[in-house]
Amino acid sequence: MSTAEVTRNVNTPACPADSADKASLPLTIFEKSSPGRHGVATPSTDVPDVDPASVLPKSAVRAEVAELPEVGELDVQRHYTHLSTLNFSIANAFYPLGSCTMKYNPLVNEKVCALPGFAALHPMQTDDQAQGMLELYWRLEHLLCEVSGLDAVSIHPTAGAHGELTALMVMRKYLDDHGQAERKVILIPDSAHGTNPASCTMAGFTTRELKSDARGRVDMEALDNVLGADVAGLMITNPSTLGLFEPNIKRICDKIHEVGGLVYMDGANMNAILGRTRPGDFGVDVMHFNLHKTFSQPHGGGGPGAGPIAVTEALAPYLPVPKVEKDGDRFRIVRCSEKSIGTTRGFLGNSGVVVRAYSYIRSLGERGLLRVSENAVLNANYLRIKLQDSYRVWVNETCMHEFVATAKGLPNDIKATDIAKRLIDYGIHPPTIYFPLIVPEALMIEPTETESKETLDKFVAAMKAIRAECDTAPETLKHAPHSRSIGRPDEVKAVKEPRITYEGDNKSR
Ligand SMILES: Cc1ncc(COP(=O)(O)O)c(C=O)c1O
Repeated sequence: MSTAEVTRNVNTPACPADSADKASLPLTIFEKSSPGRHGVATPSTDVPDVDPASVLPKSAVRAEVAELPEVGELDVQRHYTHLSTLNFSIANAFYPLGSCTMKYNPLVNEKVCALPGFAALHPMQTDDQAQGMLELYWRLEHLLCEVSGLDAVSIHPTAGAHGELTALMVMRKYLDDHGQAERKVILIPDSAHGTNPASCTMAGFTTRELKSDARGRVDMEALDNVLGADVAGLMITNPSTLGLFEPNIKRICDKIHEVGGLVYMDGANMNAILGRTRPGDFGVDVMHFNLHKTFSQPHGGGGPGAGPIAVTEALAPYLPVPKVEKDGDRFRIVRCSEKSIGTTRGFLGNSGVVVRAYSYIRSLGERGLLRVSENAVLNANYLRIKLQDSYRVWVNETCMHEFVATAKGLPNDIKATDIAKRLIDYGIHPPTIYFPLIVPEALMIEPTETESKETLDKFVAAMKAIRAECDTAPETLKHAPHSRSIGRPDEVKAVKEPRITYEGDNKSR
């Protein structure tokens, strides 16, 4: 199949089709300016003209008239509408970003979230005025207890990584309180997300790496070798970032408990096991959820999110405050608690995310959540099987919600980044690349449960077409994308030195 055929079929975002269009991309709004053109016609004023210098302090008076674009209303409309189409989103097309779980966000959640009783509530309002929102927090806590099989939840943290830090602080305080201050080591498998070791360090622990075995699971012999009296706990992601369920998880938890440690589960991948198994039931003491992944949520651009933590009864007294409690048939915010680690965030967190997650869970119900994990796993395995002859799958076994392939060994020195950039020309968002770190040239693919078989087939067709291009048109891949206004920016520099203001010519493009 040719690029054009695949692109036409894959529900492409509106984007220029070739490099000729790229050259004719619209100028910035300043360059559309034409002297004397107006967007609106206002009636003439009956306020007398006043010299600004006679009424304003000198420092507030401009020496020269501000240079603003002079454009018609329609130009402005077209300009911003066009800019909005340059952004890629799940509403445009397929977005198989492994680990990040870019799944569809049902619009009913947006409607619920926008109800004035939620959207117009101010965090400084009294408990009496916020009963509905407080009840929703309380109810969501109980739903998350049910999903995790654990005893208490704090919705306080506002991201997965923030949940990690908060949970590790809870573990630290619990250990100190039980005369275990000398326990400072957290064991972390080598496939872990980078936030895991970072959070440990921030919470005052040191980390010890745990090697994976050839099948990407925890190496049980390596585990035995690193256990000791200094171990505070294990931080394990299950399913792992390789998209694999840890079959020895119960034995692993038992081993950690035998040496007096706690088990932390990074629950960012809960969408794969929702309703099927519960971390509390296989021995986990503490975990975090990524509400913005498991329970849908718009989470582009870094937020806002929520990373609630769930804990056993033993750890519950150390959870952060403020928290919502039920008092008879009323709900109130408790602002201090004797053993709590204290406050790690203002107010009650990102309430919009919390409302959406509640709406998502209630609208799907128990059966719906089961189908989420069922379809997430089915879709990932469908893609894995369809692509295994074209790309080497790192651990080619039944996977959970995602799988990791590798571009290592592709002909003509084609890299993961070339495959990813070329997919953009086919109207598809690239998968996550170069993560997890234990897989060279990693392509981490997560289709999510919301995609149809037709969309998955179009992705397979695009990936196969690109695989053929590795042999027949390697230069096309190495210079992709050919269809966007930006090709291959220096990604580090773009983050460290973003140039997002108008600079007088086309530099800001
Ligand atoms: C496995 C895993 N852990 C932790 C995180 C961190 O979550 P957040 O980005 O919300 O801080 C992520 C994010 O993608 C993740 O995939």
